[in-house]
Amino acid sequence: MRHTAKLIIGVSALVISMAGLVYSPDASAAGKAPDKKTCKAKPTDTVTQGGCIVINRKKGNCMACHQIAGTTANGNIATNLSYMRQRYGKNKKRLYDQVYDATKFNKNSAMPPFGRHAILSKKEVEKVVEFLLTL
Ligand code: HEC
Repeated sequence: MRHTAKLIIGVSALVISMAGLVYSPDASAAGKAPDKKTCKAKPTDTVTQGGCIVINRKKGNCMACHQIAGTTANGNIATNLSYMRQRYGKNKKRLYDQVYDATKFNKNSAMPPFGRHAILSKKEVEKVVEFLLTL
């Protein structure tokens, strides 16, 4: 009886982990910016949508100034957007505020106040933050 229980637990654990392999989360942009093709296909997950806003020249165009994994047009006006989860994982609000209105922290910031100037909506800033936190 105990053996059977163990076997059932073992098999279920295996099935669950295998399902995890096949059914990986649909955040295809996690870790690096998505490519244009992915964005054209209108991704439905927040992370990829955020990545698409980041690389869209009419939206974030963040790579004009920052280096971002997955993009080639690496700007060197500002920081490399890496280790974001380590740096902001515990302070999402700080990251949101930075993107929403960089002048909050540096009144002479060269970074456009994306939210305050309505270049991006609040929802879009939130999505950008979700993407950044995978970097
Ligand atoms: C015109 C150039 C420019 C653009 C475009 C730009 N930034 Fe910035 N960014 C800066 C500068 C300059 C700083 C340095 C801090 C400051 O002066 O405000 C900065 C700082 C940051 C920081 C804080 C520093 C760090 O590495 O943690 C983050 C996060 C950031 N930017 C994210 C973004 C995102 C996301 C976008 C696109 C939605 C973006 N930036 C677009 C110029 C830019």
